[in-house]
Amino acid sequence: MTNKKVLTTRFEKMNDPTDVQDYCALSGYEGLKKALQMKKEDILEELEAALLRGRGGAAFPLGKKWRHLFYSKGSPKYIVCNADEGEPGTFKDKALLDFDPLALIEGMTIAGYLFDSPQGYIYIRGEYRHLHDRLNAALENARRMNLLGKNILGIADFDYDIRIISGAGAYVCGENSALLNSIEGKTGRPRVKPPHLADVGLYLKPTLVNNVESYACVPYILRYGGEAFKSLGTEDGGGTKLICLTGHVKNRGLYEVNLGTSLYEILYSEEYGGGSSTGRPLKFIHFGGQSGPIGSVSQLEDCIYSYDGMWDKDLSVGSGAIVVMDDSVSIIDYLTQVAAFFTHESCGKCTPCRIGTLRILEMLEKFQQGMGMPGDMQRFNAMLTHVTQLSACGLGQSASTAIFSAMQAFPKEFEQVIDTKAEKVQEVMW
Ligand SMILES: Cc1cc2nc3c(=O)[nH]c(=O)nc-3n(C[C@H](O)[C@H](O)[C@H](O)COP(=O)(O)O)c2cc1C
Ligand code: SF4
Repeated sequence: MTNKKVLTTRFEKMNDPTDVQDYCALSGYEGLKKALQMKKEDILEELEAALLRGRGGAAFPLGKKWRHLFYSKGSPKYIVCNADEGEPGTFKDKALLDFDPLALIEGMTIAGYLFDSPQGYIYIRGEYRHLHDRLNAALENARRMNLLGKNILGIADFDYDIRIISGAGAYVCGENSALLNSIEGKTGRPRVKPPHLADVGLYLKPTLVNNVESYACVPYILRYGGEAFKSLGTEDGGGTKLICLTGHVKNRGLYEVNLGTSLYEILYSEEYGGGSSTGRPLKFIHFGGQSGPIGSVSQLEDCIYSYDGMWDKDLSVGSGAIVVMDDSVSIIDYLTQVAAFFTHESCGKCTPCRIGTLRILEMLEKFQQGMGMPGDMQRFNAMLTHVTQLSACGLGQSASTAIFSAMQAFPKEFEQVIDTKAEKVQEVMW
């Protein structure tokens, strides 16, 4: 495995990251130029060989998704970039938009060419104002250089442009179907699936939705080949991954790591986390944002940061967020904050999530005060299971992930919240 970078090579090396000439001086647009010389089927094959898993969190192989859209009936096809990045602890898409916005635009233009799409959309949160300006400047510069617009690079009928759509700042609008509703001007609530968005998406037309980091990998794959990209990672997921290290580590920040790097290296080596920032032992790690699982540091000594490596430990890479906490942090306090987030962000469309996330928060607040009653753990488990299994979208379905995993990793902290002297209340299962 080579320690080569894919996504951060141009960071802070361009005078103006929105300038096409600066971008081209550092291999920009070589992926698109290569794609234009290839048969479309060969483009799909390279993407499949790369085994790039979607970087938005769900880890679905990008090549498979693009093949599905390619053979989907219906026209026009739309290209959508999910730049909502509302996941707490995650700031890698913002960094890409800030330091290398043309990499995303090039990736989306390759998609535009492959799918004969007339229009791409970048959905970004309204509050990321300076990134709108950055993206606008990059799009305008690309248009000026005939890399967007009519007859791109002189190719007849290659007409494609990209618009920015501003979101109003709801976590659920990062869910791909809620995002499409929001672009259409509807309330940002998830749609019922199936149908698959590649068949019935934006304005009921076949639509591709990918994350910023996923699109930004595409030019590299076409320039160097799918196998070259895959070899930077592991057999179950190719390439490098942007990770966002925060919490009680010395060197907090954004890093690009090869998939397959040891988790301990990420936490303790000076190249990455550099170990505890407080002098206290590290206790737990929350992976992939609020909807991701928690692992105990002491149980993860042999953990490999790759898709399979994490799944083997019931963990996940998710968005790439890695929040590290030392032993001064109570797991119950931490989870209460996580639950408050989901209560706030539930869109309210379905009852198990709307009411369930609130009940989970209330139960955790009760535990925080040491006022758990005998029988509460069974009730709590039932609540978590109901919310997971009965919610309509990924928000409710993953609202309990952190709690379930923390209960496995730190069972004693949950035992301690039950006041054993309290009288057992009659069993009322929720
Ligand atoms: C509640 C919720 C929020 C999400 N937020 C984001 C987000 O901010 N950015 C993102 O790329 N994907 C987000 N996703 C995942 C998307 O639904 C979708 O899987 C992703 O955009 C697909 O792109 P990818 O395959 O390139 O990862 C979210 C999913 C859920 C359920
Ligand atoms: S699970 Fe939650 S966020 Fe998703 S549709 Fe239902 S209420 Fe809305």
